[in-house]
Amino acid sequence: MTVASVYKQGWTMEDIHWSLFDPSKVTPTLLAAIKAAALVEYNAPDYVSYLKRVFAGSSPETIASLELWGQEEAQHGRALGRWAEMADPGFKLEEAFARFRKGYTPAHFAESQAGSVRGSKRGEMIARCVVESGTSSYYSAIRDATEEPVLQEITGRIAADEYRHYKLFYDTFHAQSEPDLSIWKKLRIAVERVRESDDDELAFSFYCANVAPEEEDAKPYDRKIYSRLASQASMTIYNRRHIQKLVQMVTKAVGANPHGWLANTAGEVLWRRMSAKSA
Ligand SMILES: [Fe+2]
Ligand SMILES: [Fe+2]
Repeated sequence: MTVASVYKQGWTMEDIHWSLFDPSKVTPTLLAAIKAAALVEYNAPDYVSYLKRVFAGSSPETIASLELWGQEEAQHGRALGRWAEMADPGFKLEEAFARFRKGYTPAHFAESQAGSVRGSKRGEMIARCVVESGTSSYYSAIRDATEEPVLQEITGRIAADEYRHYKLFYDTFHAQSEPDLSIWKKLRIAVERVRESDDDELAFSFYCANVAPEEEDAKPYDRKIYSRLASQASMTIYNRRHIQKLVQMVTKAVGANPHGWLANTAGEVLWRRMSAKSA
């Protein structure tokens, strides 16, 4: 079975039952988290260009699957953004996104960069598996936390997509002809990718999504403050079981036992770290 043959697009914006929206079930913390998530998802096209450079020379199927993946991520941004605009008519996805784009460009998206910042295609796929494990768990947690029917539907659909993305990158990892990496190398890449969540992506998206342009002077961007606010919002959504699922997916990606000591220890460490960060 080829990578592309198991990779099919699942839904469109028209499939969402928008008319079921119930404003009485919207909570401020979840709304703030959804606005920020919409900006990060909507930024996918940059990532597609970068991954296509990393996989230049690969089969047309692989390139097509990366493009479809990017379209799905951007659709996640549009769906979450539309929901946020319904919940808060003062929020405008395109405006908030333009501010986010202006202030946030990771170094590895720069055109001049050739190859993967992870050192190899396999390394790149491990990093992607970490991200998809994170998003799959995050949207499952939101689906379980919210009582708003449209948000339940959107996050349920997105969580399923993210899991499929994980499988795409997991299969692409195994389809590479370059030699496998040692488990230590894979673990290092995974831990580095988790640590990168501390960069501006989450903090700055939370800021642009939740501080209006006219408030910028009174509330200037501060990574520490907005990183903590973003973490606090996430911690009201997550519970321990979602984090364990995330860690199990990552341990499987690095080639370790998802139910062994490594997964159990890493789950505990990550949970404590997340709790401390939001304190
Ligand atoms: Fe996504
Ligand atoms: Fe994804």
